Formats: sequence, structure tokens, C-alpha cells
Amino acid sequence: MGASQIQHTCVFGLGWGDEGKGKVVDLLCPLFEAVVRFNGGANAGHTVCVGEEAFAMHLLPTGIIHAEVTSVIGPGVVADPIGLIDEIDRLAARGVDVAGRLKVSDRAHLVLRYHKLEDQLCEKALGAEVRIGTTSRGIGPCYADKMRRTTAVRFADLIHDADLEKRVRWITSARVAALRAMFGPGAELDEDGVVSDLRTARARLARFVCDTTSYLQDAMKCGRPVLFEGANGLLLDVDHGTYPFVTSSSTGPHGIGAGAGVSPALVTKLIGTTKAYSTRVGSGPFMTELADATGDRIRRAGNEYGTTTGRPRRCGWFDSVACRYSARFSGATDIAMMHLDTLSGFDEVGICVAYRLDGDEITAPPACARLAGRIDPVIEMQPGWHEPIRGVRRFEDLPTAARSYVERIETLVGVPVALIGVGPDRSETLVRGPLKNVIDIPASSAA
Ligand code: IMP
Repeated sequence: MGASQIQHTCVFGLGWGDEGKGKVVDLLCPLFEAVVRFNGGANAGHTVCVGEEAFAMHLLPTGIIHAEVTSVIGPGVVADPIGLIDEIDRLAARGVDVAGRLKVSDRAHLVLRYHKLEDQLCEKALGAEVRIGTTSRGIGPCYADKMRRTTAVRFADLIHDADLEKRVRWITSARVAALRAMFGPGAELDEDGVVSDLRTARARLARFVCDTTSYLQDAMKCGRPVLFEGANGLLLDVDHGTYPFVTSSSTGPHGIGAGAGVSPALVTKLIGTTKAYSTRVGSGPFMTELADATGDRIRRAGNEYGTTTGRPRRCGWFDSVACRYSARFSGATDIAMMHLDTLSGFDEVGICVAYRLDGDEITAPPACARLAGRIDPVIEMQPGWHEPIRGVRRFEDLPTAARSYVERIETLVGVPVALIGVGPDRSETLVRGPLKNVIDIPASSAA
């Protein structure tokens, strides 16, 4: 299939993050000229397993492990420069040289030490009821500075603003004073450290900084296909997620316009990723949570611990109401359902088919988190399957109960399930429908 036949594509999460987007992006990468992060920052954790090796990317697009693909950190990303350098160095130690494959937008914002400090102090000060349970990566405070404008720092400033250090010293001392007033002692930060981070960032990252917007617009105009890699998930979206227990960016295809500087109308393949069950890290409503032995069993079977923070993930049954909500507002054209193998061995598996709130049925998560916390999920139990399925390579060869489970979800959500993950490796993936002619699944894993 020629490059011109590949549609510009977005892979994004339909849930609260950790849906397995990294693996989907990795499988699609060879078809694309560029892979673009357009939202979030180092709060993401996209894991790719290649044979015995696991690569966890936080800020770098997953495409970075593919030598022939250009990886772009777009204007909508908030990037911790020291974290980014650390990721680059870790890859270099494993033989992956990012030179020539990485572009960082001059419009992207820098996460600096005071953002992380504010994130941590704020979370510590809040009571368990209202704490968001952030990743402590300074994401919210950095996006707040971006909107405030006068206290923001972009990569363009790092390169072109001769007075940046002076300005950042002023921002740091003003921020520390404000944090001290709010949170008391503990709000300490060394101004020199922040300045030294800027110098390190300039020395190491300047060569990657450029106008990624023009690059992407030109590529897309010439029919060179581009893949957009959404971070976090739609239920964590700042406008449409379970606010305020969300992240601070637009996490789906609607974020592409602002976050990459290209028309989202050009991006016509929209692959929403979900697990075969639900997980959430951090606080906030979780309508199908299983805070019991079944939830623990899913956590163990799926190794559900955060890639970024190592925190145990909350686990529950698949929520078709939330998934349909996410699929509708994002316009998902396909679903990639990962971790189906994790459900092998259960006598029965549950799917939430409706929500009840104070006795009435509601069709979407409510705007108010307090109401969402009171939802009574209607769970439909389906027969489970006991056979291990990691060796299966065709949908038709799955146990009947596993096939019925996938088909029931497809009907409830109203979007075809085009990709199914049956194990962590690239090769452990089933492709259905038209994508079969597009994606080449390796017979076994190779770097
Ligand atoms: P923040 O993005 O660090 O501000 O965290 C806000 C909320 O989003 C917290 O509940 C985090 O646990 C959650 N979160 C942010 N990014 C991800 C992700 O990539 N996967 C899962 N949860 C995330």
C-alpha cells in the first residue's frame, strides 16, 4: 500500500489513560512519516515491548524507537527539559540515537522546577476528598502559566530571549513567595538550580527546536502520512472528562488543532484505544470499580501498576457507557481493545451496560463528579473463557466466549473493534476488518 493511501491518523485513549496506546502507535509507526505528541507532558507513560526489551516513553513520541520516523513534540505539549534529556540519554544507552529523528516545537512550554514543587505541595495540602492524585510532574501548574502568559517559558524563549534567565529568576522568587504564603515552610527552591536547568536545556536541546507546525503542514499537504499520539485519555480530558479529576489538556483528536497546529479535519482515521476492562490511577469517580478480590485479580493478571508513578491502578469491569460517550465525542472510527488476555481464566466477565442515578437511567457520565460518584452501574455478566489466548493470531481462533465478549462491546459502543491485544508483544495482536490490509503484524518480535 502506497503512503498516499494511508490516512492521517490519531491514536488516543477512550478511558482514564493507560489503555495500551504505546503498543498501537508502535505497530502503526512504520506506515507514517512522523509521529506527533500534541498534548500533556511527562505524565504519560507509553510502553512498547520488543522481544525481551520494554521501552517506556514519557515525553518522547513512541515513534522515537523507529529510525525512519520523525518524532515531533508539538506546541501543545508541556515538556520538562531535564526529564526529556534523561529520556534521550536512556535511549542512547540502549543504542537508540535520537539525532535526526526528533523535532521539538519552538512553541512548546517548559515545565520547570517550581511547577513540580507547586504540583506536589498543592496535592499534599488538599484533603483526600478533593486531591486529584496527579503524577506530580508539574503538568497543571505549567498549563496554568501558559494561560497566564506573563509567567510562561517556551522553547523559543530558551533560544532567542537574551533576558530569559533574569525573567526566570524573577518568576522563581515570586512563585516561591506565593507558595510559601499558601503552604508554609517546605516551599523552598534554589533559583540557581532553575537557571542551571535552563542552561543545560539550551546546551542539549537547542538543536532539536524548530517550527514543527510548518513541517507538519507541509508533510500533510504533500500527502506524507502523519500519526498523532494522544496522551492520557478522554475521560481525563480537561473539558469532557470527569472534572476536576482530570489532566489539564485536550487529550483526543479535538486537541490536534491547538496542540499540533494542523487542521484536525485532515485526520480521518481515529483509533480509540481501550482495555478489555477499566482502570484508573489517581482519585475521581470510577463507575465500575471493583474494590474487592476480583479487582485485585485483574490488577495482578494485567500487572496494573503505573508506568510513570508505579502506583497500583484501580481496576473494574468494562464500562460501555463511558466508552460510548468517549467514542461519540471523539468521533472514533475504530477501537483498539488491548489486554484481552488479562481476562482469561475468569468464570464470568462483566460489562457495564447502563448507569442508574437515584433510580433513573442516565446515558453519560454527569458533569458533576459528586453525582458520578453516586452512579449505580448496571452490570451484565457474560460467560468467561479459561483458555490462554496469547498464542492466538486470528479473531476466528479465539474461544467463543472471548469473541462474544468483544462483539457485545462492539454493539454497545457502536464502533468496530479493529485491533485486539492478546499479549504485550508486537506480535500478540489480532487485526480485523479493513485494517488487515494496512497493518503488518510481525510473526515474532524484532527490534
Ligand atoms: P496530572 O496530569 O499529573 O495533573 O494528573 C491528573 C490526573 O490524571 C491524575 O489522576 C493522574 O493520575 C491522571 N493521569 C495523567 N496522565 C495519565 C496517564 O497517562 N495515565 C493515567 N493517568 C494519568
